[in-house]
Amino acid sequence: MAQLFTRNTQAIFWNNNTTAIQRMLDYDYTIKREKPSVAGIVAPTSGNKFEKFFWGGDEIMIPLYKNTAEAKAAQPQADVLLNFASFRTAYDVTMEALQIGGFASIMITAEGIPERLARKMNQAARDAGVIVIGPATVGGIVPGAFKIANVGGTIENIINSKLHRAGSCGLVTRSGGLFNELSNIIAINADGIAEGVAIGGDRFVGSVFIDNLLRMEENPEVKYMILLGEVGGTEEYKVIDAVKSGKIKKPIIAWCIGTIAKYYDSGVQFGHAGASANAERETAESKNKAMSDAGIHVPATFNDLPAKIKEVYESLNISPVAEPEMNVVPAVRKSKEFICTISDDRGDEATYAGFPISSLATPDTGKGIGDVVSLLWFKKQYPLWATQFIETVIKTVADHGPAVSGAHNAKVTARAGKSVVESLVTGLLTIGPRFGGAIDGAAKYFKHADDNGMDPKAFLNYMKNEGVPIPGIGHRIKSLKNPDLRVEGLKKFAREYFPATPLLDYALTVEQLTTSKKENLILNVDGTIGILMVDMWRALGYSEEEINEFIESGTLNSFFILGRTIGFIGHVLDEKRLAMPMYRHPMNDILYDVQVAEKI
Ligand code: ACO
Ligand code: LMR
Repeated sequence: MAQLFTRNTQAIFWNNNTTAIQRMLDYDYTIKREKPSVAGIVAPTSGNKFEKFFWGGDEIMIPLYKNTAEAKAAQPQADVLLNFASFRTAYDVTMEALQIGGFASIMITAEGIPERLARKMNQAARDAGVIVIGPATVGGIVPGAFKIANVGGTIENIINSKLHRAGSCGLVTRSGGLFNELSNIIAINADGIAEGVAIGGDRFVGSVFIDNLLRMEENPEVKYMILLGEVGGTEEYKVIDAVKSGKIKKPIIAWCIGTIAKYYDSGVQFGHAGASANAERETAESKNKAMSDAGIHVPATFNDLPAKIKEVYESLNISPVAEPEMNVVPAVRKSKEFICTISDDRGDEATYAGFPISSLATPDTGKGIGDVVSLLWFKKQYPLWATQFIETVIKTVADHGPAVSGAHNAKVTARAGKSVVESLVTGLLTIGPRFGGAIDGAAKYFKHADDNGMDPKAFLNYMKNEGVPIPGIGHRIKSLKNPDLRVEGLKKFAREYFPATPLLDYALTVEQLTTSKKENLILNVDGTIGILMVDMWRALGYSEEEINEFIESGTLNSFFILGRTIGFIGHVLDEKRLAMPMYRHPMNDILYDVQVAEKI
């Protein structure tokens, strides 16, 4: 891999570090990336499904996942893991990501991972061919393409340091702070950087100087390289060997900081865990001298580094970089209160999940209510057999006469002089686990039983222990002798048009057992709808998790609510048309059993 990141690179960000992520997205917006550089966030303790971030003045939603495996499965294109776990967790997160696979690079920010674990982790990554940036780092950047988290600081700083577009320098430092400082120096004295990595300050870091410089040697965008090392360790000698052997041909400018260490009597431990010399050849002085001897451009002091950069850069006669147009992140932004992902009324014509209403409304479009439901409820274009099933369900449950609980209530309310909407709502509020609202429950319990391989007897026992009647079983008036023809119609449709009906097949074996006990314990209309919806979604390719979510959120009862609304309105209009007076229930139809209240 010659280039660390491209404009299409996307990352999974482990930990919902909103400030760092917002910085990445502000950078993306500034450089006019098409897609956000963060595809998903792993937030193990969050119950939320997404986090809102600004994209310029607008907002976007980045999905949250419970763990890396889930995130990677949902975002397989994201091949960078930004591991912002604490030093206690960072090792496990990295090792798990290596096992999951599909990551080209992993950046680890935590400082202080135990050295034994850091070595094991770095070796595992190396064996897997995964580039590790860090631990103990701010990360890296390919200007104009992808920036890790806080590298470069604020957007103003980034633009001042010309980190918004590619220059020609390949920069490798240990320190993150000095990375930013050097980016600025390079912007002033040359044309900015093409790729930069702060490899991290711990004693054992994943990718070392030589790994990064060898990659930059292969990267045609990089014309020369700058290495900023520090006292401690011997990694710079590998670079020297590569220069001597001709493996690296591009010019390198280098400096090891920490030359002051020689003025102290004993060994000095600088800020980084790795910044301490254990032997003469690990001192900054020795390394600077050895690098200079090998033909690397080493300034006399750190203060002379800018001039050295200017000198080498100018000697290379690199053509000037065209300055790209940038987006400007607005200074004042307001977070939006509401989110809508189903319809949009901002254009000339409102859309349902991207489809203008006129493309669905009239008969010539060939679209029906089933299509509208699939777009507005599920944000998907269902195939004909599925939209026709939805329509069949809606038509099937539209009404079942005036005697059923909900219609009765709607009628009574209308007769009390209430409006259509008030009477309708009364009817709707009657829908519940016994009447019309057993669809979700039926889907839930039958699916659970089938998923767990329970035979009908085991299922009945299970429900007995749960202490609830089996949702979707039983009817007041329908029975084996008086079959519910609505159920027959739905089953017939499914047999003819569904690719398969495994849950229905299972439910019918349960029905055999329940009706053998009592003949009205049939699979009722609610049960049939719930079970067939599961079969439909499975055939449409929904995951079990998605189906469970539909069940939990009450999606299936919604089909009854939608369909029966037609009937309730019909009954209410009927009452109004007939100008029926207020209803009073006949007293002889009530068993009065009222005792005089006991005095206490
Ligand atoms: N699972 C197990 N046993 C049941 C079930 C059931 N779903 N339904 C009734 N029974 C049993 C009862 O335990 C009772 O047993 P018992 O005689 O040994 O005491 C017997 O059948 C009669 O019970 P009732 O509640 O009086 O049954 P009824 O026929 O009056 O009630 C009802 C019908 C309310 C639909 C009931 O069967 C039920 O609660 N079913 C589950 C909920 C459901 O699916 N509702 C949707 C119906 S369809 C619709 O509304 C569009
Ligand atoms: C209905 O569709 O309303 C019913 O199946 C309930 C009933 O009592 O008929």
